[in-house]
Amino acid sequence: MEVAETIKSVRRLVKAARSKGNKIGLVPTMGALHIGHICLIEKAVKGSDFVVVSIFVNPTQFGPGKDFEKYPRSFESDLEICRKAGVDVVFAPSPQEMYKKENLTWVNVEKLTEPLCGRSRPRHFRGVTTVCAKLFNIVEPDVAYFGQKDAQQAIVIKRMVADLNMPLEIVVCPAVREPDGLAVSSRNKYLSEQQRKDATYIYKSLKKCESLVEAGTTDSKTIIGEMKQILNQVPSIEIEYISIVDAESLQELERITGKALAAVAVKIGSARLIDNIIVDAGRQ
Ligand code: PAJ
Repeated sequence: MEVAETIKSVRRLVKAARSKGNKIGLVPTMGALHIGHICLIEKAVKGSDFVVVSIFVNPTQFGPGKDFEKYPRSFESDLEICRKAGVDVVFAPSPQEMYKKENLTWVNVEKLTEPLCGRSRPRHFRGVTTVCAKLFNIVEPDVAYFGQKDAQQAIVIKRMVADLNMPLEIVVCPAVREPDGLAVSSRNKYLSEQQRKDATYIYKSLKKCESLVEAGTTDSKTIIGEMKQILNQVPSIEIEYISIVDAESLQELERITGKALAAVAVKIGSARLIDNIIVDAGRQ
Protein backbone atom coordinates (compact mmCIF):
# COMPACT_ATOMS: atom_id res chain seq x y z
CA MET A 1 0.00 0.00 0.00
CA GLU A 2 1.25 3.44 -0.93
CA VAL A 3 0.62 6.63 1.03
CA ALA A 4 0.38 9.71 -1.18
CA GLU A 5 0.47 13.14 0.40
CA THR A 6 0.50 15.16 -2.79
CA ILE A 7 -1.94 15.50 -5.66
CA LYS A 8 0.86 14.84 -8.11
CA SER A 9 1.84 11.54 -6.47
CA VAL A 10 -1.71 10.15 -6.19
CA ARG A 11 -2.33 11.08 -9.84
CA ARG A 12 0.83 9.26 -10.88
CA LEU A 13 -0.17 6.09 -8.98
CA VAL A 14 -3.73 6.11 -10.33
CA LYS A 15 -2.53 6.78 -13.88
CA ALA A 16 -0.25 3.73 -13.73
CA ALA A 17 -3.12 1.56 -12.45
CA ARG A 18 -5.54 2.86 -15.07
CA SER A 19 -3.08 2.18 -17.86
CA LYS A 20 -3.26 -1.51 -16.89
CA GLY A 21 -7.02 -1.40 -17.41
CA ASN A 22 -7.89 -1.33 -13.70
CA LYS A 23 -11.25 -0.05 -12.49
CA ILE A 24 -10.54 2.70 -9.93
CA GLY A 25 -12.60 2.93 -6.72
CA LEU A 26 -12.48 5.87 -4.30
CA VAL A 27 -13.64 5.98 -0.68
CA PRO A 28 -13.59 9.57 0.60
CA THR A 29 -13.19 9.80 4.40
CA MET A 30 -12.09 12.15 7.13
CA GLY A 31 -10.17 9.36 8.87
CA ALA A 32 -10.72 8.08 12.43
CA LEU A 33 -11.77 4.97 10.55
CA HIS A 34 -14.32 2.64 12.12
CA ILE A 35 -16.40 -0.34 11.07
CA GLY A 36 -18.74 1.91 9.02
CA HIS A 37 -15.81 3.11 6.90
CA ILE A 38 -14.42 -0.42 6.70
CA CYS A 39 -17.69 -1.63 5.17
CA LEU A 40 -17.34 0.97 2.40
CA ILE A 41 -13.69 0.04 1.88
CA GLU A 42 -14.52 -3.68 1.68
CA LYS A 43 -17.22 -2.97 -0.87
CA ALA A 44 -14.72 -0.90 -2.87
CA VAL A 45 -12.10 -3.67 -2.73
CA LYS A 46 -14.69 -6.17 -4.00
CA GLY A 47 -16.12 -3.87 -6.66
CA SER A 48 -12.98 -2.26 -8.11
CA ASP A 49 -9.46 -3.34 -9.05
CA PHE A 50 -7.56 -0.43 -7.54
CA VAL A 51 -8.81 1.30 -4.39
CA VAL A 52 -7.91 4.76 -3.16
CA VAL A 53 -9.03 5.84 0.32
CA SER A 54 -8.74 9.56 0.97
CA ILE A 55 -8.16 10.70 4.53
CA PHE A 56 -8.68 14.42 4.80
CA VAL A 57 -10.36 16.35 7.59
CA ASN A 58 -11.88 18.95 5.32
CA PRO A 59 -11.81 22.39 6.98
CA THR A 60 -14.37 23.93 4.59
CA GLN A 61 -17.21 21.72 5.77
CA PHE A 62 -16.89 22.70 9.44
CA GLY A 63 -18.65 25.81 10.71
CA PRO A 64 -16.66 28.44 12.62
CA GLY A 65 -16.01 27.24 16.16
CA LYS A 66 -17.31 23.77 15.29
CA ASP A 67 -15.30 20.61 15.88
CA PHE A 68 -12.60 20.89 13.15
CA GLU A 69 -9.72 21.23 15.63
CA LYS A 70 -10.90 18.50 17.95
CA TYR A 71 -12.16 16.14 15.23
CA PRO A 72 -10.64 12.73 16.10
CA ARG A 73 -7.46 11.88 14.20
CA SER A 74 -5.83 8.43 14.28
CA PHE A 75 -3.66 8.33 11.18
CA GLU A 76 -1.41 5.37 12.08
CA SER A 77 -4.26 3.03 12.97
CA ASP A 78 -6.18 4.25 9.90
CA LEU A 79 -3.25 3.17 7.73
CA GLU A 80 -3.22 -0.23 9.42
CA ILE A 81 -6.95 -0.67 8.77
CA CYS A 82 -6.49 0.26 5.11
CA ARG A 83 -3.51 -2.04 4.71
CA LYS A 84 -5.46 -4.99 6.19
CA ALA A 85 -8.48 -4.27 4.00
CA GLY A 86 -6.43 -4.42 0.80
CA VAL A 87 -6.41 -0.70 -0.10
CA ASP A 88 -3.89 0.25 -2.81
CA VAL A 89 -3.35 3.94 -2.01
CA VAL A 90 -4.17 6.17 0.93
CA PHE A 91 -4.38 9.77 -0.22
CA ALA A 92 -3.72 11.99 2.80
CA PRO A 93 -3.10 15.57 1.69
CA SER A 94 -2.50 18.51 4.02
CA PRO A 95 -5.04 21.37 4.00
CA GLN A 96 -2.44 23.46 2.12
CA GLU A 97 -2.13 20.79 -0.55
CA MET A 98 -5.91 20.63 -1.09
CA TYR A 99 -6.61 24.37 -0.82
CA LYS A 100 -3.44 25.95 -2.17
CA LYS A 101 -4.46 29.59 -1.80
CA GLU A 102 -7.68 31.36 -0.99
CA ASN A 103 -10.44 29.20 -2.47
CA LEU A 104 -12.71 31.19 -4.74
CA THR A 105 -14.46 28.36 -6.55
CA TRP A 106 -17.21 26.42 -4.83
CA VAL A 107 -19.59 23.71 -5.91
CA ASN A 108 -23.03 24.27 -4.47
CA VAL A 109 -26.04 22.02 -4.88
CA GLU A 110 -29.21 24.03 -4.37
CA LYS A 111 -32.49 23.01 -2.70
CA LEU A 112 -31.32 19.58 -1.51
CA THR A 113 -28.87 21.26 0.87
CA GLU A 114 -31.48 23.51 2.50
CA PRO A 115 -33.55 21.16 4.73
CA LEU A 116 -32.40 18.78 7.49
CA CYS A 117 -28.70 19.34 8.34
CA GLY A 118 -28.51 22.29 5.93
CA ARG A 119 -30.65 24.34 8.29
CA SER A 120 -28.20 24.37 11.19
CA ARG A 121 -25.01 24.00 9.11
CA PRO A 122 -25.35 26.67 6.42
CA ARG A 123 -22.11 26.11 4.47
CA HIS A 124 -21.49 22.50 5.40
CA PHE A 125 -22.67 20.89 2.17
CA ARG A 126 -20.88 23.49 0.04
CA GLY A 127 -17.67 22.30 1.71
CA VAL A 128 -18.56 18.64 1.19
CA THR A 129 -19.46 19.00 -2.49
CA THR A 130 -16.43 21.17 -3.20
CA VAL A 131 -13.98 18.74 -1.59
CA CYS A 132 -15.64 15.74 -3.26
CA ALA A 133 -15.52 17.49 -6.65
CA LYS A 134 -11.82 18.14 -6.05
CA LEU A 135 -11.21 14.52 -5.00
CA PHE A 136 -13.08 13.27 -8.08
CA ASN A 137 -10.96 15.54 -10.30
CA ILE A 138 -7.74 14.44 -8.62
CA VAL A 139 -8.36 10.67 -8.48
CA GLU A 140 -10.76 10.36 -11.45
CA PRO A 141 -12.39 7.23 -10.01
CA ASP A 142 -14.81 5.05 -11.97
CA VAL A 143 -16.81 4.57 -8.78
CA ALA A 144 -16.97 6.32 -5.40
CA TYR A 145 -18.51 4.89 -2.23
CA PHE A 146 -20.63 6.76 0.32
CA GLY A 147 -22.65 5.71 3.38
CA GLN A 148 -26.41 5.88 3.85
CA LYS A 149 -25.60 6.96 7.43
CA ASP A 150 -25.21 10.45 5.93
CA ALA A 151 -28.28 10.14 3.71
CA GLN A 152 -28.52 13.81 2.75
CA GLN A 153 -24.82 13.91 1.87
CA ALA A 154 -25.21 10.88 -0.42
CA ILE A 155 -28.22 12.44 -2.17
CA VAL A 156 -26.42 15.77 -2.60
CA ILE A 157 -23.29 14.09 -4.02
CA LYS A 158 -25.36 11.99 -6.43
CA ARG A 159 -27.08 15.15 -7.66
CA MET A 160 -23.78 17.00 -8.11
CA VAL A 161 -22.42 14.11 -10.18
CA ALA A 162 -25.57 14.01 -12.32
CA ASP A 163 -25.88 17.78 -12.78
CA LEU A 164 -22.20 18.29 -13.63
CA ASN A 165 -21.93 15.15 -15.82
CA MET A 166 -19.08 13.80 -13.74
CA PRO A 167 -18.02 10.48 -15.27
CA LEU A 168 -18.30 8.20 -12.25
CA GLU A 169 -20.79 6.01 -10.46
CA ILE A 170 -21.84 6.67 -6.86
CA VAL A 171 -22.50 3.58 -4.75
CA VAL A 172 -24.32 4.07 -1.44
CA CYS A 173 -23.77 1.46 1.31
CA PRO A 174 -26.20 0.77 4.21
CA ALA A 175 -25.54 2.34 7.62
CA VAL A 176 -23.47 0.12 9.91
CA ARG A 177 -24.80 -0.03 13.46
CA GLU A 178 -23.63 -1.18 16.89
CA PRO A 179 -25.49 -4.25 18.21
CA ASP A 180 -27.84 -1.94 20.15
CA GLY A 181 -28.71 -0.01 16.99
CA LEU A 182 -26.60 3.14 17.43
CA ALA A 183 -25.13 4.12 14.06
CA VAL A 184 -21.35 3.88 14.20
CA SER A 185 -19.79 7.35 14.00
CA SER A 186 -16.45 9.00 14.72
CA ARG A 187 -18.38 11.41 16.93
CA ASN A 188 -19.57 8.61 19.25
CA LYS A 189 -16.11 9.00 20.84
CA TYR A 190 -17.31 12.25 22.40
CA LEU A 191 -19.96 10.41 24.48
CA SER A 192 -19.58 9.49 28.15
CA GLU A 193 -20.73 6.03 29.23
CA GLN A 194 -24.17 7.36 30.23
CA GLN A 195 -24.50 9.47 27.08
CA ARG A 196 -23.58 6.43 24.99
CA LYS A 197 -26.55 4.59 26.57
CA ASP A 198 -28.79 7.60 26.02
CA ALA A 199 -27.79 7.68 22.33
CA THR A 200 -29.56 4.35 21.71
CA TYR A 201 -32.85 6.26 21.88
CA ILE A 202 -32.09 7.79 18.47
CA TYR A 203 -32.46 4.43 16.73
CA LYS A 204 -35.37 3.53 19.03
CA SER A 205 -37.22 6.61 17.73
CA LEU A 206 -36.50 5.59 14.13
CA LYS A 207 -37.70 2.03 14.79
CA LYS A 208 -40.88 3.52 16.26
CA CYS A 209 -41.40 5.40 13.01
CA GLU A 210 -40.89 2.18 11.08
CA SER A 211 -43.37 0.20 13.18
CA LEU A 212 -45.99 2.96 12.94
CA VAL A 213 -45.68 3.06 9.16
CA GLU A 214 -45.85 -0.74 9.02
CA ALA A 215 -49.05 -0.58 11.10
CA GLY A 216 -50.56 1.82 8.57
CA THR A 217 -49.93 5.26 10.11
CA THR A 218 -49.02 7.69 7.36
CA ASP A 219 -49.54 11.09 8.98
CA SER A 220 -46.08 12.61 9.53
CA LYS A 221 -47.18 14.86 12.40
CA THR A 222 -48.47 11.87 14.38
CA ILE A 223 -45.31 9.88 13.71
CA ILE A 224 -42.98 12.77 14.57
CA GLY A 225 -44.96 13.34 17.79
CA GLU A 226 -44.39 9.72 18.84
CA MET A 227 -40.70 9.89 17.95
CA LYS A 228 -40.36 13.09 19.96
CA GLN A 229 -41.90 11.38 22.99
CA ILE A 230 -39.25 8.67 22.84
CA LEU A 231 -36.37 11.12 22.56
CA ASN A 232 -37.84 13.36 25.26
CA GLN A 233 -37.58 10.48 27.74
CA VAL A 234 -33.86 11.21 27.85
CA PRO A 235 -32.92 14.51 29.51
CA SER A 236 -29.47 14.64 27.90
CA ILE A 237 -30.94 14.60 24.38
CA GLU A 238 -31.52 17.96 22.74
CA ILE A 239 -33.51 17.49 19.53
CA GLU A 240 -32.30 19.51 16.54
CA TYR A 241 -34.78 18.06 14.07
CA ILE A 242 -37.02 15.08 13.42
CA SER A 243 -38.10 15.13 9.78
CA ILE A 244 -39.99 12.92 7.41
CA VAL A 245 -39.10 13.81 3.84
CA ASP A 246 -39.35 12.44 0.33
CA ALA A 247 -36.41 10.03 -0.06
CA GLU A 248 -35.24 11.74 -3.26
CA SER A 249 -36.30 15.40 -3.21
CA LEU A 250 -35.92 15.74 0.59
CA GLN A 251 -39.14 17.77 0.67
CA GLU A 252 -41.20 17.53 3.85
CA LEU A 253 -44.07 15.07 3.60
CA GLU A 254 -47.37 15.63 5.36
CA ARG A 255 -48.38 12.09 4.54
CA ILE A 256 -46.17 9.13 3.66
CA THR A 257 -47.35 7.44 0.48
CA GLY A 258 -44.29 5.67 -0.89
CA LYS A 259 -40.66 5.73 0.17
CA ALA A 260 -39.75 8.31 2.78
CA LEU A 261 -36.63 9.21 4.69
CA ALA A 262 -37.09 9.59 8.43
CA ALA A 263 -34.14 11.57 9.72
CA VAL A 264 -33.10 12.69 13.19
CA ALA A 265 -30.39 15.04 14.46
CA VAL A 266 -29.74 15.50 18.17
CA LYS A 267 -27.14 16.89 20.46
CA ILE A 268 -25.96 14.85 23.41
CA GLY A 269 -23.41 16.82 25.42
CA SER A 270 -20.97 18.20 22.86
CA ALA A 271 -21.73 15.53 20.24
CA ARG A 272 -24.08 16.21 17.35
CA LEU A 273 -25.43 12.86 16.15
CA ILE A 274 -27.50 12.09 13.07
CA ASP A 275 -29.28 8.97 11.91
CA ASN A 276 -32.02 7.96 9.49
CA ILE A 277 -34.00 5.11 8.03
CA ILE A 278 -35.99 4.63 4.86
CA VAL A 279 -39.62 3.69 5.44
CA ASP A 280 -41.99 2.55 2.76
CA ALA A 281 -45.73 3.06 3.12
CA GLY A 282 -46.35 1.29 -0.16
CA ARG A 283 -45.00 -1.98 1.15
CA GLN A 284 -47.96 -3.39 3.06
P1 PAJ B 1 -16.69 10.64 7.20
O1 PAJ B 1 -17.59 11.12 8.26
O2 PAJ B 1 -15.32 10.19 7.56
O3 PAJ B 1 -17.41 9.48 6.43
C1 PAJ B 1 -16.84 8.90 5.29
C2 PAJ B 1 -17.88 7.99 4.67
O4 PAJ B 1 -18.21 6.94 5.58
C3 PAJ B 1 -19.20 8.73 4.34
O5 PAJ B 1 -19.67 8.34 3.07
C4 PAJ B 1 -20.12 8.27 5.45
O6 PAJ B 1 -21.49 8.28 5.09
C5 PAJ B 1 -19.62 6.85 5.68
N1 PAJ B 1 -20.01 6.36 7.01
C6 PAJ B 1 -19.79 6.95 8.22
N2 PAJ B 1 -20.36 6.23 9.20
C7 PAJ B 1 -20.96 5.18 8.61
C8 PAJ B 1 -21.73 4.07 9.10
N3 PAJ B 1 -22.01 3.90 10.39
N4 PAJ B 1 -22.20 3.19 8.18
C9 PAJ B 1 -21.95 3.34 6.86
N5 PAJ B 1 -21.22 4.35 6.35
C10 PAJ B 1 -20.74 5.26 7.20
O7 PAJ B 1 -18.63 11.94 5.36
C11 PAJ B 1 -17.51 12.40 5.40
O8 PAJ B 1 -16.48 11.80 6.09
C12 PAJ B 1 -17.09 13.66 4.67
O9 PAJ B 1 -18.19 14.53 4.59
C13 PAJ B 1 -16.51 13.40 3.25
C14 PAJ B 1 -17.54 12.75 2.33
C15 PAJ B 1 -15.25 12.53 3.35
C16 PAJ B 1 -16.10 14.76 2.59
O10 PAJ B 1 -15.17 15.42 3.38
